[in-house]
Amino acid sequence: MKHLIDAKVLTPEYVGALISSAEDILNNPSKYRESCKGKILATLFYEPSTRTRLSFESAMIGLGGSVLGFSSAEMSSASKGESVADTIRVISCYADIAAIRHHKEGSALAASIYSNIPVINAGDGGHQHPTQTLTDLITIHKFKNKLDGLTIGLCGDLKFGRTVHSLIHAMSKYKNNSFLLVSPDELRIPDYLREEMTAGGVSFTETEDLSSSICDMDILYMTRVQRERFFNEEDYVRLKDSYILNKQKLSLAKADLAVMHPLPRVNEIAAEIDNDPRAVYFEQARLGRYIRMALIMDLLGI
Ligand code: NCD
Repeated sequence: MKHLIDAKVLTPEYVGALISSAEDILNNPSKYRESCKGKILATLFYEPSTRTRLSFESAMIGLGGSVLGFSSAEMSSASKGESVADTIRVISCYADIAAIRHHKEGSALAASIYSNIPVINAGDGGHQHPTQTLTDLITIHKFKNKLDGLTIGLCGDLKFGRTVHSLIHAMSKYKNNSFLLVSPDELRIPDYLREEMTAGGVSFTETEDLSSSICDMDILYMTRVQRERFFNEEDYVRLKDSYILNKQKLSLAKADLAVMHPLPRVNEIAAEIDNDPRAVYFEQARLGRYIRMALIMDLLGI
């Protein structure tokens, strides 16, 4: 049984195969219209989501499969106190594959242990979000035509931003990538990740200043300050607008920078740059559907 829980399993070989498959689906959608006929995807979302849940559902429908699920903890038996372990045991009787999002770190891993069907981690607390990383990788591949030898700026909430943690794991596996980690001191990457990067010989620099580091970046991955993971509102309010990418800051960047964002954005990217050719975040969201189609097929062994 194959699951996707942790971005650590996203080796260059596996990612390369998924990107090729996604590109083929993108170019020949009719070839895949019945690939998952008769199969059911369950989306178990205990936390809010727009893109991730709907792109999973759209992916499965595009492959001829069906979807069922819930989009908040209140709408599931979690509100009655049911454990994730029991829920997934039951869902295994109703569906062929499940995508789960939960506020607790480790919940997708726990679900996979009790599941009889493939489980996909669609975000576990502030920990990981490997399918957003697949979305990010296909986007970088599209705009840079490679996944190595890049300077990747990650800016914003690097402490709680699970997409950041998964992206660092995956991009560290390619040769000659280096990271520019831009955040307020309180929102720096977690210690365990810094230790892993140091132990793995991954090149990275931590800074609080976006304006002085943007000129070196090939990719700028902006992130939202993760309000829901803060212990108090005052800290959130103080930190939420630490970085706002606007025309003036973008004028300091390379002409071929790719500005990415997992979305939703709040204030961290000014709408005035949406039409700049370097702003690729909506294309990034579009590509997420195709890489998820490739992933679903792979995990179902189709
Ligand atoms: C991200 C998430 O849920 O972690 N969104 C997404 O899946 N596209 C980023 C975020 O919520 O800020």
